[in-house]
Amino acid sequence: MSKYLNHMTTVMLFTIASLTAHANTADEEQQAAANNTPVIETLAVNVDENSFSCIREMSPVRHFYVDNLLGDIESTLAAANNPKGAKYPTGSVVQLVPTEVMVKREPGTSPATGDWEFFELQVDEKGSTIAKRGFVDVNNRFDGNCFTCHAPAREPWDFICESDHGCESIPIDHSMTGALQRSDPRCGEAVPQSGDWMALFKLKAMVTVGTTMKWVKETF
Ligand code: HEC
Repeated sequence: MSKYLNHMTTVMLFTIASLTAHANTADEEQQAAANNTPVIETLAVNVDENSFSCIREMSPVRHFYVDNLLGDIESTLAAANNPKGAKYPTGSVVQLVPTEVMVKREPGTSPATGDWEFFELQVDEKGSTIAKRGFVDVNNRFDGNCFTCHAPAREPWDFICESDHGCESIPIDHSMTGALQRSDPRCGEAVPQSGDWMALFKLKAMVTVGTTMKWVKETF
């Protein structure tokens, strides 16, 4: 009998405990509603090599491409097309060439870079491999720091340089970036336009000169 009573007491205590717990949650919800503080749920932006594929399957904006890993491509396009500049929404992906990517991570991830994570990819017919990723300390293959170069465009362009947002210009013009987009190996067959061969040839020469210069600097 006493065993039975003990058991009943446990059951009752348990029931009271769960009711109280429930009441607390309801209280907190009411409190939050009274303070007008919305419960913000931030979806995680998980980025791995499968997050990236053929650049031409992204949405074109002027001479670059955008996407959104959380599916909110409308908000990303709205930011990219705002003539006054705007903050890109979480999950945004921006690419000018197949091997360099900016991804907008969760709010508060990296205040210095406006929550942008920078990626340097290696791409081939099989897909993408992440060579480098990070926030303030990622360099591209010419040894230039992504963040330092993009920082002048912080306000109001949210670090997006384009041609006239205050960044130091790069020696790669849009005939070259276009040629690289049309020959992204992850897309299958290249879709060259006239002039692409020359643009890629010039680019290759520049990369060779750049690499040689780096080698000269390091060696002598
Ligand atoms: C020497 C300065 C410099 C460095 C280093 C640099 N960028 Fe850029 N980046 C630019 C400029 C300038 C543009 C705009 C080019 C244009 O469209 O005329 C640009 C364009 C881009 C774009 C297209 C959107 C935009 O801002 O116009 C992305 C994405 C990008 N860069 C990512 C990167 C990543 C990732 C790295 C590092 C791995 C990197 N960049 C390194 C200067 C730089």
